[in-house]
Amino acid sequence: MRDLKQADLIVVAGQVATCAPGNAPRPGTKMDDAGLLSNSAVVIQGERIRAIGPSEVILKEWMGDTLEMPNSAVVPGFVDPHCHPLFAGSRLDEFVRRSQGATYQQIHASGGGIFSTVRATRAASDEELMARATSTIERMMAHGTTTLEAKSGYGLDTAQELRQLRLLRQLGKNLDMDIVPTFMGAHAIPPEHADRREEYVRLVIEEMAPQARELADYADIFCEEGAFTLKESERILTACSALGFGLRIHAEEFTYQGGARMAAGLGAITVDHLQWLPDTDFEAIREAGTIPVLTPGTSFFLGHERFAPARALLAADLPVALGTDFNAGSCQTESMQAILSLAVLRLRMTPAEALVAATVNAAHSLGRGDLVGSLEVGKKADLLVLDLPDFAELPYRFGGNYVRAVIKSGVAVNTILDSPLGDPL
Ligand code: NIG
Ligand code: FE
Repeated sequence: MRDLKQADLIVVAGQVATCAPGNAPRPGTKMDDAGLLSNSAVVIQGERIRAIGPSEVILKEWMGDTLEMPNSAVVPGFVDPHCHPLFAGSRLDEFVRRSQGATYQQIHASGGGIFSTVRATRAASDEELMARATSTIERMMAHGTTTLEAKSGYGLDTAQELRQLRLLRQLGKNLDMDIVPTFMGAHAIPPEHADRREEYVRLVIEEMAPQARELADYADIFCEEGAFTLKESERILTACSALGFGLRIHAEEFTYQGGARMAAGLGAITVDHLQWLPDTDFEAIREAGTIPVLTPGTSFFLGHERFAPARALLAADLPVALGTDFNAGSCQTESMQAILSLAVLRLRMTPAEALVAATVNAAHSLGRGDLVGSLEVGKKADLLVLDLPDFAELPYRFGGNYVRAVIKSGVAVNTILDSPLGDPL
């Protein structure tokens, strides 16, 4: 008998949704393919995937701890490419007011909204912010997120924005989650600059962004009525690009401003939200190779009828990604599974399109596409064992947590939610 190769872990599953190929962002018309394998095994050595294929072939070549999950589907860990997880305070009162008819924009214009969270966040200690964000991020991981983009933007002065980026980096060291920090000093004009907005724009450009650069690879801005104008957004993003930041933008979330087209023209990595994006701007985004990041949880949580034009973006061959937009006010879900449901139900994406958007395309939107986002030899062993036999049941089973085990960098990590079926390991 031949010598078998030694694996650290072999996951044998009834279905493996590899999402391969993941070597490049997947264009919209090729996203309806989750790279399905049946009765297959994923071989893990250290933190990497070493082999993947039919179980009967793999098990003749490899030995090691084996997780036999014949009734489970395995998918790549989710990559959440748009998130604001570090803040203090609560906007529950606003949530209730919104339920009674107030709008997010009215609350923002009257000094609540983002400003309410900025006040609470500035006043909180590092320890308070870390404890709160730790619990948020652990919940995200329990729901299957293994790589997370995380924005500053609830500080809005130099010291507070830098503090937020430092804390986000520390969270990445403390937790199993891979965290990609984004500088968002241009989230809103803080109250103390309300009458001096030009001064704030210059503060971001001349002081905050240069210092933030060593703490973050991406910069983001909120281009919207009540936040930054198209012109201001262009100046800030141009300066951030010159500093070497990859660019992201909150664009066309509440109104059409033209921010997505402008940012694509500057070579933005992503343009996010896009609820009011007209199809006349698609070509500029496609030509720039920019990834549209859609956030259906935000439209849902704001009670909006209008969702981003996902089907048209896919038909135009844009590599759509999906994110939670978890934040204090406009979306409070930690679950990429909930986002998959909304993507299917409200964006009219198929389960396979939604999964590819939440893995391969989201990974490329964070410059991590060569490392995570699909289950392929050489990639990081970030994978989820589901309580479901078919990955397509993830969006179908709306609102639950069907992640039975999270394997992060090759190791089964503790999650805060117990599986109804117990610990399979
Ligand atoms: O993505 N639009 C701006 N930022 C967040 C909301 C932040 C907040 O309300 O605290 C968003 O919707
Ligand atoms: Fe956001």
